[in-house]
Amino acid sequence: MMSQSYTHHWDEIEYFKLAIPHAEKDPKVAGVKAGCNGCHAPISFLAGDVPPPKPEANSRANESVSCDLCHTVTGFKGDVPHNFNLVSEPGRVKYGPRDGAVSPSHETRKSDFLKSADFCGTCHNEKDPYGIWVKSTHLEWKEGPYAKQGVQCQDCHMTFAKGRNASMGPELPDVAQHLFHGAHDPAFTQTFGKWNRQNGSS
Ligand code: HEC
Ligand code: HEC
Ligand code: HEC
Ligand code: HEC
Repeated sequence: MMSQSYTHHWDEIEYFKLAIPHAEKDPKVAGVKAGCNGCHAPISFLAGDVPPPKPEANSRANESVSCDLCHTVTGFKGDVPHNFNLVSEPGRVKYGPRDGAVSPSHETRKSDFLKSADFCGTCHNEKDPYGIWVKSTHLEWKEGPYAKQGVQCQDCHMTFAKGRNASMGPELPDVAQHLFHGAHDPAFTQTFGKWNRQNGSS
């Protein structure tokens, strides 16, 4: 879903047919012309393409929420992660969950932030121009039982399995799988009951 967050047909319709025309008519919502892309096409947003070319142009906006975006985030600004308030430091250093990972094509550095729910909250909490939370997935998590147990978004949406991060890398017992299943996957919603039972929640 995230790898196509700019190119999905529904995202294209909502942005080009609804958001842009509204933004051009009503000064109160003018900011969404750029703002939608902070989360849906973050690399082109950071580079200043407003509005970005349509998906058919195959521009950098089509990268959507990409490897390089997530792996060059170092934190967030302010008190509450929301509305793409993440700190992006693009460059040769790619941040990841482990110390000492060696790659021939870039430097690596460990980041605890990447393993935190706050990281996801920078896009999975959204306040609209009227000050209303229109999406509060991370805030809901924070008020619920899992935050108290220390269970992060990653623990459920990226499960961990034996494997290698790269063909020349060492075999590891617990590689984070970039599955990001959500409500679009019926199997995920079913196996979740099992996860809950194994982890002692109801
Ligand atoms: C740069 C912004 C950004 C960040 C950071 C981000 N997401 Fe997302 N995520 C999105 C967008 C945008 C979508 C919606 C894609 C669409 O509908 O086209 C999405 C969709 C998803 C979905 C799919 C939901 C479904 O309906 O199936 C899951 C699951 C998800 N994100 C989990 C996470 C988790 C877990 C993290 C943190 C490790 C995270 N996201 C970090 C922007 C982000
Ligand atoms: C703060 C980050 C953020 C901003 C800003 C944002 N979105 Fe999203 N959007 C998301 C995330 C995250 C999801 C996935 C939500 C989920 O599945 O819980 C999403 C989902 C969507 C979806 C799919 C809805 C569905 O039912 O599957 C559309 C369409 C969409 N966004 C369009 C837009 C448009 C147009 C704008 C600007 C007016 C916008 N978004 C602004 C983060 C954002
Ligand atoms: C205990 C496991 C668990 C944790 C922790 C968790 N999720 Fe989920 N998440 C799920 C399950 C299961 C679903 C599917 C729910 C359904 O379809 O009824 C889901 C659904 C979603 C969806 C899709 C919603 C939609 O309407 O399409 C998104 C996006 C998401 N989670 C993001 C997050 C983020 C961000 C966090 C951390 C702030 C998080 N989740 C924490 C288990 C979890
Ligand atoms: C939505 C954000 C997001 C995107 C997109 C993303 N990653 Fe990750 N990645 C993460 C997070 C979060 C972790 C750490 C999870 C943890 O350990 O809790 C991670 C972990 C990793 C790791 C280390 C895994 C381990 O357990 O040692 C590698 C390697 C990696 N990602 C590479 C990639 C590549 C390559 C892509 C693109 C194909 C990519 N990532 C896309 C968020 C992302």
